[in-house]
Amino acid sequence: MKDNLKLFFTEHWKYMAVSTACKLNLFENLQKAKTTKQLAKELSLNEEKLNLLLNALHQVDFLSKEEDCFKTNSLSEFLTESNPESLKFACLNWSSEHLTAWQNLDFSIKTGKSSFEEIYGKPFFDYLNDFPEKLHAYQKAMYEYAKDDYKILPDLIDFSKHKSVMDVGGGYGAILENIKTKKPNVECVLFDLPKVIDRVPISNIKKLGGSFFEKIPNQSEAIVLSRVLHDWNNEKAKLILKNCFEALPNNGTLYVIENCSDKIKIDLSLLSLNMSAMCESYERASTQYILLCENTGFQFHSETKLNELQTILIFKK
Ligand SMILES: C[S@@+](CC[C@H](N)C(=O)[O-])C[C@H]1O[C@@H](n2cnc3c(N)ncnc32)[C@H](O)[C@@H]1O
Repeated sequence: MKDNLKLFFTEHWKYMAVSTACKLNLFENLQKAKTTKQLAKELSLNEEKLNLLLNALHQVDFLSKEEDCFKTNSLSEFLTESNPESLKFACLNWSSEHLTAWQNLDFSIKTGKSSFEEIYGKPFFDYLNDFPEKLHAYQKAMYEYAKDDYKILPDLIDFSKHKSVMDVGGGYGAILENIKTKKPNVECVLFDLPKVIDRVPISNIKKLGGSFFEKIPNQSEAIVLSRVLHDWNNEKAKLILKNCFEALPNNGTLYVIENCSDKIKIDLSLLSLNMSAMCESYERASTQYILLCENTGFQFHSETKLNELQTILIFKK
């Protein structure tokens, strides 16, 4: 037991080795078997230290090794950008600022405030807005998760009953892409921060930049709000909901998609700690989301389970 405890203290070294490999594009460059010497020369890296990293990646089963040559395996193939099911940016997402926020989690526990904000001097999304490449990497990470998570959404909800659907805080548009593939006639509108919208490559949807704290344009019969409310405390979440309410026509529909702690078997405490450190928020129960929405004027209609983690809560104006 004590030995396992000692190993547990340094478990994060495994993730750090893998995310460093992503940062250095090692997996892209090891789709063909190579020696350390070859790779070090190609990428201008220190051969001795690279050799340590490659052996560590082999030790944690992220690289195969034959004689002196290293090569990606079925796991690390997912960490190459060209893989259609890539999770490279999802992997990178949890290093750098996220890790720094976690290292200062004690601040959040003492004060109830975001350790990210304490260290970086501003809220997470304002910070990202100042660094285009960090914002892009974050959005790509969210998109990689979203592509998997929302695959069956259009099978569960018949979005064709709405003339138009707007995804508010929809990032790089994974949900709308899914809806368009299955229901091409639904008019789709993506709303997110202007710098996010500027880089969305999808062409068969309408794209609008703005802030959901200011005004959400009156564009659609239905609004999707997915993994948005969990980023914010109650006061901010209510403001987003108020603006959604104002944007919808009478009898309009709001779909809130979130990890609801009371609807799943998985304990969300660690995810909630992450939200506390990053943005002074936490993962709520469905009853708390329903209360927030009802307090803004929405009427709860029904709910459907989306996947292992997420539930779709449906409201009417
Ligand atoms: C956690 S991500 C969720 C993305 C996507 N809905 C999903 O489920 O994968 C939160 C989204 O809210 C957007 N966002 C943050 N602040 C915003 C604001 N003030 N106005 C509009 N969108 C905002 C972010 O850019 C990001 O795309």
